[in-house]
Amino acid sequence: MALIILSLTLPLISSLPTSLSDTLTKCPRITCSEPLGDDICFLHSSDNPVSWIKLQSCLPGKLCPSPLASFTTHSQSILASNDPLKSPTFQRLTKAKCEITYNRNLLPGRKCTSNYQCQSFVCEEQKCKGYSSGASCYKHEQCDIGLACISKGTFPYATTCDSLRKIGDACEEDLECQQTSVCWYQSRGDFYQSKKTCIVKYGLSDNQTFGWAPKHYDTYQDVLYNGRLCQSGFAVPYYDSNDTRPLGLCTTFTNVYTDQGIFTMNEAAQCMVSNLASYCQYYYTTPTGIENVVKIRCACPADGSIGYCPLPSIEAMRKYSLYDYALSGNGTNCHTLDRNSELAQSDCGIGLSSSLLETYLNAKVLVEQWPLAQNERVRKCLEDKRPESYKGIVLASVAGSKAQWIKVGMVISVVIMSVMLI
Ligand SMILES: *[C@@H]1O[C@H](CO)[C@@H](O)[C@H](O)[C@H]1NC(C)=O
Ligand SMILES: *[C@@H]1O[C@H](CO)[C@@H](O)[C@H](O)[C@H]1NC(C)=O
Ligand SMILES: *[C@@H]1O[C@H](CO)[C@@H](O)[C@H](O)[C@H]1NC(C)=O
Repeated sequence: MALIILSLTLPLISSLPTSLSDTLTKCPRITCSEPLGDDICFLHSSDNPVSWIKLQSCLPGKLCPSPLASFTTHSQSILASNDPLKSPTFQRLTKAKCEITYNRNLLPGRKCTSNYQCQSFVCEEQKCKGYSSGASCYKHEQCDIGLACISKGTFPYATTCDSLRKIGDACEEDLECQQTSVCWYQSRGDFYQSKKTCIVKYGLSDNQTFGWAPKHYDTYQDVLYNGRLCQSGFAVPYYDSNDTRPLGLCTTFTNVYTDQGIFTMNEAAQCMVSNLASYCQYYYTTPTGIENVVKIRCACPADGSIGYCPLPSIEAMRKYSLYDYALSGNGTNCHTLDRNSELAQSDCGIGLSSSLLETYLNAKVLVEQWPLAQNERVRKCLEDKRPESYKGIVLASVAGSKAQWIKVGMVISVVIMSVMLI
């Protein structure tokens, strides 16, 4: 019997049409081990599908610049397009060289020793200072910590530096809300009226709903972006009625079905990425008790295996949301625009003495790069060698203090020289 199956399958494999193998998704190799020389911290193969990406740390006192070229499983299958925005290399560096961090152009709240380091050109008590509440402004950067440049909401819409909006207040974007909250639609009705509100991050339990909206027009990214409102970290577009717009439903997926079998949400679900039609079917139960599914494309692995489903495990997401919330809660002395800057958070936020920043960043790699992080070597590589990694930030902050010492040294030598001249 086995022999018959063998003789039946073998000719099938060898006679695969070439048009099919042309559509196979290729995945890049990601490496961190080889020295790139000449202060290079990032190299990208500059082709599509991307064939390799190489990362290396900078020396203390230096920082790898951004934005860096990347790849997505989706973009790997694009062979030609007239839209540069679909490219992972458009307006991004494919080769980056470590730069000395001078700590300049800093937002209010950041540590400074001289006015010239601050965007506002005001360094008071060793912190950059912005406009106070009530001052006329035209952009968030001008306002001090705890404030944003917000319009009065009615004509003539004058903008002033004003306190960050509290939970339940109307808003236009996340930057206007306190750092532990996001600006989103509380209900489907609010979505229809384009009315957004500051809503606490990770606050809604399973089965609770809100107004779903596509942000990235990509199911994987939108499940996570809308999921910022949910305790579980996951939300699905839920069509509960004849309404053409879905609700956002907070949920914990039960299982994932792929072309390789059925997996729980506590393991890495395998799937065949080279098959363009390979989808991960994430199962959830609606509040009315019906089993439903959301389909997400299989993603590139980094371990030479066949591929992984892209959503992180329930446990990985639970840890990430916990650390993310604590980091935001400790960021109130950072500027609203610095809420997502880990380098800034190491200075005006939680700092480097607590272990939170490191655990947060490692949890973030796991959540954002789940398929790649299944490979121990690549996970370590992403944890250690990305510019925004914990190690990268520690090295860059050494850079900051060094630059300050160079400045102090220069001042001292100028003083000595002018004394000698007298
Ligand atoms: C959906 O539309 C049908 C026909 O118009 C109607 O009978 C049904 O009650 C509607 N269902 C809901 C949930 O509104
Ligand atoms: C959500 O609703 C389903 C169906 O009614 C129910 O089985 C499940 O226990 C609910 N989950 C929570 C967390 O309430
Ligand atoms: C600040 O971080 C610590 C963990 O380092 C956490 O326990 C605490 O809740 C955070 N503070 C706020 C206000 O979120």
